[in-house]
Amino acid sequence: MKLKNNTVVVTGGASGLGAAVSRKIIEKGGSVIIADLNAESGNNLANELGPKAIFALTDVTDSDNINDTLDLAQAQPGTFRAVVNCAGILAAGKVVGKNGPHCLDTYAKVINVNLVGTFNVIRLSAARFITNEPDDENERGVVINTASVAAFDGQMGQAAYSASKAGVAGMTLPLARDLAREGVRVMTIAPGIFDTAMMAGMTEEVRAGLSATVPFPPRLGRPDEFAHLAAHILENTMLNGEVIRLDGALRMSAR
Ligand SMILES: NC(=O)c1ccc[n+]([C@@H]2O[C@H](COP(=O)([O-])OP(=O)(O)OC[C@H]3O[C@@H](n4cnc5c(N)ncnc54)[C@H](O)[C@@H]3O)[C@@H](O)[C@H]2O)c1
Repeated sequence: MKLKNNTVVVTGGASGLGAAVSRKIIEKGGSVIIADLNAESGNNLANELGPKAIFALTDVTDSDNINDTLDLAQAQPGTFRAVVNCAGILAAGKVVGKNGPHCLDTYAKVINVNLVGTFNVIRLSAARFITNEPDDENERGVVINTASVAAFDGQMGQAAYSASKAGVAGMTLPLARDLAREGVRVMTIAPGIFDTAMMAGMTEEVRAGLSATVPFPPRLGRPDEFAHLAAHILENTMLNGEVIRLDGALRMSAR
């Protein structure tokens, strides 16, 4: 798809990887709906990016909320043709820790936001995409999800997070197959370690230690590098049903 004159909804678009994607879409001539729980950051970013960026207070676990946001996307000039799922939360805890078994509510919350929330946005967006006029490549829409390298090599204490991201990776192909006839593509990016708010609070020592675990380049990923890949996926019609690791050849160790 071409970004120019099309509208993209970016969940988690107010911060980190999602904010970089929101910026990239504006840079490439598209319109963006920044769909996030964080109103302050979302409004600030929308103001910075100008009239083609709109903030919509959205909780990806709430279907009515998502539908309101998609209504807004469809009300923009041009066509609502893509969604980039970046909303996500992190939680850590061993299956049995110092204080006993893993909190089940925490486990369920991570699955609910990262996996069920992502699926919820996909199913409601896809229902709209299939009503689009196909473009000159016969394409009606594109979905990009964000998993993590933890989907494949989760560390100790990452059972909940890894399960949620493995779910996102695992549903990529069947979703692409489900939507192929309608000309809607589904792709997932599995980032390594990126320099975002999720990583804030790390001391320089921890940051240097993490950077050293990345074979090349030995540093944290830059959010713009994620956005660059997301834009490429949107524009390259042949990419479909695949999970791409974006990690500098990082393979996470057990701890
Ligand atoms: N930063 C990394 O190193 C890294 C690595 C692998 C995967 N990821 C994944 O990338 C995605 C983006 O992470 P980030 O590093 O940019 O984090 P971030 O914390 O900077 O941004 C996440 C955004 O998601 C929003 N959000 C959280 N719950 C939401 C909900 N229920 N509805 C709508 N919005 C919600 C937050 O308000 C926040 O703005 C996440 O899914 C994360 O798991 C990040």
